[in-house]
Amino acid sequence: MNTESKKPREKLLEIKNPTQISTEDLIAIILGHGSKGKNVFDLSKELVEYIRTNLNNSISIEKLSEFPGIGTTKALQIISALELGRRFKWTQEKIRVHEIGRGEIIQGDCLEAMKSIADDSIILAFTSPPYHNAINYEEHIQKLEGKIEYWTRKEVSYDFYRTFLTDRFKELYRIIKPGGYNVVNISPVGWNGIRVPLPFHFTGWMEEIGWQFKEDIIWEKEIAKDKRSGVLMQHPYPGYYYPSLVAEYVLVFQKPAGKKEENNIYYFRSREDKQTNKIDLRDYQGELSKNVWKIPPVAPQQNLHPCPFPEELAKRIIQFYSYKDDTVIDIFAGSGQTNIVAEKLGRKHIGIDTQEKYVQYAIERLNQITK
Ligand SMILES: C[S@@+](CC[C@H](N)C(=O)[O-])C[C@H]1O[C@@H](n2cnc3c(N)ncnc32)[C@H](O)[C@@H]1O
Repeated sequence: MNTESKKPREKLLEIKNPTQISTEDLIAIILGHGSKGKNVFDLSKELVEYIRTNLNNSISIEKLSEFPGIGTTKALQIISALELGRRFKWTQEKIRVHEIGRGEIIQGDCLEAMKSIADDSIILAFTSPPYHNAINYEEHIQKLEGKIEYWTRKEVSYDFYRTFLTDRFKELYRIIKPGGYNVVNISPVGWNGIRVPLPFHFTGWMEEIGWQFKEDIIWEKEIAKDKRSGVLMQHPYPGYYYPSLVAEYVLVFQKPAGKKEENNIYYFRSREDKQTNKIDLRDYQGELSKNVWKIPPVAPQQNLHPCPFPEELAKRIIQFYSYKDDTVIDIFAGSGQTNIVAEKLGRKHIGIDTQEKYVQYAIERLNQITK
């Protein structure tokens, strides 16, 4: 296959600068990217050797597919892992902490950034993880900067994505206080023409780590971004039902506590503390008492990030699961919605994101409310 005949995505996935990360590091990444020697792709010794000897030039899908038994799909997965691994390696070197208001915004890979946080020290985490291959944040930023016209999807293998998330939610488990909460906004994603039931897989992955499933809240966005329901309008017959997607999940997990009473982490708070954190129940007989919340999404012109969650969503979670002065962490903070709401509600906060542009944007917005 010559370069001209390659698809643009394949060209993109070629490792253009293999000298920027050592061969040994790359091999470590394919053999288990940090998870104790587990060979995620089940590669034979011969294949690892083949990759090792080819790395000094550039390893492409074409080259990998030449190896007996490796088809294009597997080659693509391995290259994606190498490419992502290289990116994470770079971001690891660039952790920057910006203190602001009652909290901090950290630029870097959350896996690395969390390493400096003590065990069992944080009460509440709220986040929305990067969505599998749905959004390519680097390219989104290049588009914002006018460097490219369109951003494309990023091809990542599902296995790799799973390890990426579980590595990070394992580290989160370490820093959350027993009895504390991990709340995650997540929804099914489209991948290679199929809908992947990510929230349901994700729940199992979290349970394997030790997180206890507590609640499934549906965030109903009211406005659909897609025109799926139009299919039935054109073909009003059985088999053409594709409802418009207006729901995302908000899954609540808890880190189990040793003693029964500690399972309510707030049980021992003083009466005075409880009074100052009393939740306004005026709306409670309506929507708030149920697990379907209707909240309009953030309009694209209101936020620079491609997929922010609304402040109202963060507000409800923070009020229901933390007290004033507790620390709330968002490990994939994006535009800093969690930090902003936490700041407004008198909580301490930590937000982490790899992308400088989003970090700067979050800082600017926090500056406006802390002045
Ligand atoms: C779904 S978005 C979060 C949006 C955010 N909730 C908001 O309201 O703006 C996921 C974010 O994760 C960030 N991200 C991706 N990989 C990361 C990593 N390893 N560590 C920290 N952040 C990461 C992306 O840059 C992106 O901003």
